[in-house]
Amino acid sequence: MWATRIGFILAAIGSAVGLGNIWRFPFQASANGGAAFLTVYLAAVLVIGIPAILAEFVIGRRAKTSAIGAFSKLGRPRWWFVGAIGVVAAGWTLSYYSVIGGWVIRYIVGATTGAALADPGTYFGTVSVGIESVVVHALFMLLTVGIVAFGIEDGIELATKFMVPSIVVLLLGLAVYAFTLEGAGAGYDFLFTADFGAIVDNAGTVIPAAVGQALFSLSLGYSVMITYASYLGKDDSLLSDGLTVAVANTGVGILAGLVVLPLLAIQSGGEISAEGGPGAVFVAIPTALAELPGGSVVGQAVGFVFFAVVLVAALSSAISLLETVVAYLVDNYGFARLPTAVGLGAGIFLLGVPSAWDTAWLTWFDNISVALFLPLAVLFVVLFVGWVLGADAVAELREGSNSPGIATVWLWALRTVVLVAVIGVVALNLYDLFLVPDEGTYFVPPL
Ligand code: PHE
Repeated sequence: MWATRIGFILAAIGSAVGLGNIWRFPFQASANGGAAFLTVYLAAVLVIGIPAILAEFVIGRRAKTSAIGAFSKLGRPRWWFVGAIGVVAAGWTLSYYSVIGGWVIRYIVGATTGAALADPGTYFGTVSVGIESVVVHALFMLLTVGIVAFGIEDGIELATKFMVPSIVVLLLGLAVYAFTLEGAGAGYDFLFTADFGAIVDNAGTVIPAAVGQALFSLSLGYSVMITYASYLGKDDSLLSDGLTVAVANTGVGILAGLVVLPLLAIQSGGEISAEGGPGAVFVAIPTALAELPGGSVVGQAVGFVFFAVVLVAALSSAISLLETVVAYLVDNYGFARLPTAVGLGAGIFLLGVPSAWDTAWLTWFDNISVALFLPLAVLFVVLFVGWVLGADAVAELREGSNSPGIATVWLWALRTVVLVAVIGVVALNLYDLFLVPDEGTYFVPPL
């Protein structure tokens, strides 16, 4: 159990705020029209994200057990597969998330010594593939296992209590610093001046990409919020906790954008390009750091702080992914926590080796995670809570809340608008994955 309510909120924010905000958002946004992408992203947080996070909280807290068993506990054993999709997706996602986390460790060192700043493109090309990347992937996994092994209160709650505030403070400092730099303006334009024509013209790709990003960023669809809420007491208001997490995650996401996009703009001379992919932040940030006024010491110091923040954010998300799978095994088979965390960490590490070896695999794993697992899981969660749990879900959301009327509105939103929106997103994703194989998102592994 969480020792304190704020402990739960910080852990959930720690899960939400991560590489999704800092590493994934910039290259997804630049590939999908910048502000147009941000607009759809924000709409998705409101229309799908907030109702869906409440749905996962309701399942978790009512069942008081981890994701797969939760459905039988709620008297609907046939829906176990919904939790299962999420648990599988959590392990799948951690496999490549840890690879990127490993690069971040490498960059903390590389930025501090200056090696990463000298020739950023070549540096990324060397450290992001092959054995170098596998080694740091192992290191990141070890850190993740270490925290999860200590359990909820002594591991996750304690760690995220320090992590989340430090992410916010340091990002704020970096954003203010970026604001003072010459050439930062083009970054703000990119983020805030929407070209709505671009949304309409590219709706078939911009919409699923932005919705996927919004849900990934909120850690929805991976059974993570179900698992975290299962450790929660009845006197908490799920409604206000859910809103807090969504607002904090979106705020930190935009804050990260205010750090990363000005640097991207400076590095590219004002033209933020649509290319980049998973290397975008790792190449652009060091390039910009190397060009900072004040010389290499300033660049190295800012680089150290930046990548240290990213590492903390990545770890607090990775532990939620591992916890979701660990909790399932511990709850259902009575396994001890420590060996379970170690064994799973080793297995998931192996699954991530292809992604560490070659970034084409990483992109493929990420596509399958965000375009296939995630939307399907969210669809079933919404269907389940809206149409199957129904009145029970309303009762659960009212528990500990002082605005009971909202629960009914929420239920009807889930049953109608949210459901239709998610079905649309699933359809667009399946179309992109299976029917247009050469447009970037593809179902075929990169062999
Ligand atoms: N939300 C996390 C991020 O933005 C990633 C994540 C997804 C974590 C799903 C847990 C579950 O980086």
